[in-house]
Amino acid sequence: MQAVILVGGEGTRLRPLTSTVPKPVVPLVDRPFITYMLEWLHANGVEDVIMSCGFLATAVRNVLGDGSALGLRLRFVEEPEPRGTAGALKFAESMLQERFLMLNGDVLTDIDLRAQMDQHERTGARGTLALVPVEDPTAYGLVRLQEDRAVKEFVEKPASDEIDTNMISAGAYVLERDVVELIPPNRNVSIEREIWPQLVGGGLYGYPSHSYWLDIGTPDRYLQATFDIMEGHVHTEVGEHLGSSYRLIDEEADVQGRVVPPAVIERGCQIAADATVGSLAVLAQDSSVGPGTTIERSVVLNGAEIGRNCTLRDCIVSAGCRVGSHTHITGGAVLGEGVTVGANNVITRGIRIFPSVTLPDGAIKF
Ligand code: GDD
Ligand code: MG
Repeated sequence: MQAVILVGGEGTRLRPLTSTVPKPVVPLVDRPFITYMLEWLHANGVEDVIMSCGFLATAVRNVLGDGSALGLRLRFVEEPEPRGTAGALKFAESMLQERFLMLNGDVLTDIDLRAQMDQHERTGARGTLALVPVEDPTAYGLVRLQEDRAVKEFVEKPASDEIDTNMISAGAYVLERDVVELIPPNRNVSIEREIWPQLVGGGLYGYPSHSYWLDIGTPDRYLQATFDIMEGHVHTEVGEHLGSSYRLIDEEADVQGRVVPPAVIERGCQIAADATVGSLAVLAQDSSVGPGTTIERSVVLNGAEIGRNCTLRDCIVSAGCRVGSHTHITGGAVLGEGVTVGANNVITRGIRIFPSVTLPDGAIKF
């Protein structure tokens, strides 16, 4: 089976994580985000993947290579300029098989794609959209179904008074190649606004699923995804590695303090005596934690140095950051790559500090 993954968006809502790293390769727990999608596709029988890239395509290619490590054939396609969700597919047309999967590249899910493909075959559909329930459909594509699962209506980004179902398009589609013929070439085309409405009544079906599903578009969701992977709420290979101890501590980590599961501590990390890491903490390679410091519900990326007597809770600290002693980072705060925060600061309330910024001692208090 073949799959096309759309990864052309800039990931602006995930800044400053995406200021220096393209969204598909932002690390999530212990591997690039997009690897979760590739592992999920592989587990559903996909062996050929086309990545439809825009922003920083070379960086994505450098991290993922040719896919052989994941048992996949991986190819990259770059549009000359952003062509939209359908335009990007049109641009890859010459590489497409008769039937293929199309995926939005920003979701973490374990939807049963084989069952979705079975339904597609059974109904003789031209397109089958995976559907999941969400609390607030306004940021998504709302889908109304008939009894037989044929799509009655597709409403992209519905207004609140248009909401009469909580089922939305999950960004995972089974498509017949002839659908691509509906897409006008050489311009920006939205599959949600121009193609799905045309297909309603002409072979467009929905496949309702109650599997785990999360769009990881914002720092809050990024943290949620991290926790859900560690707690095993979504089926992933990382979760399997964590096993029933919910703990992964690399042999080459120097742990003097306490680690409370779920927790992932990578190679080269140092945790001083009298420090507590977890629950729900990730310390990526070569990061260090000073004495008396507590880190929970947080992600600390490669080579970050956290000083003594700090508190990190519900925050993301990017690679190469340095945090001085007695500093508290909480409340959804995000530090971009290489940020330095001096001693005695309080960083909270979703504040985002952009890469390489330096804050002196005692600069911010709430
Ligand atoms: N190659 C390419 N070119 N990819 C693109 C382009 C483009 O011009 N524009 C967007 N993408 C990619 C994004 O990177 C993302 O992975 C995917 O297409 C969807 O775009 P988003 O910008 O994230 O759309 P959305 O989240 O607002 O809405 C879409 O996803 C929802 C589910 O998360 C729609 O498909 C909704 O209908 C759906 O409910
Ligand atoms: Mg999205």
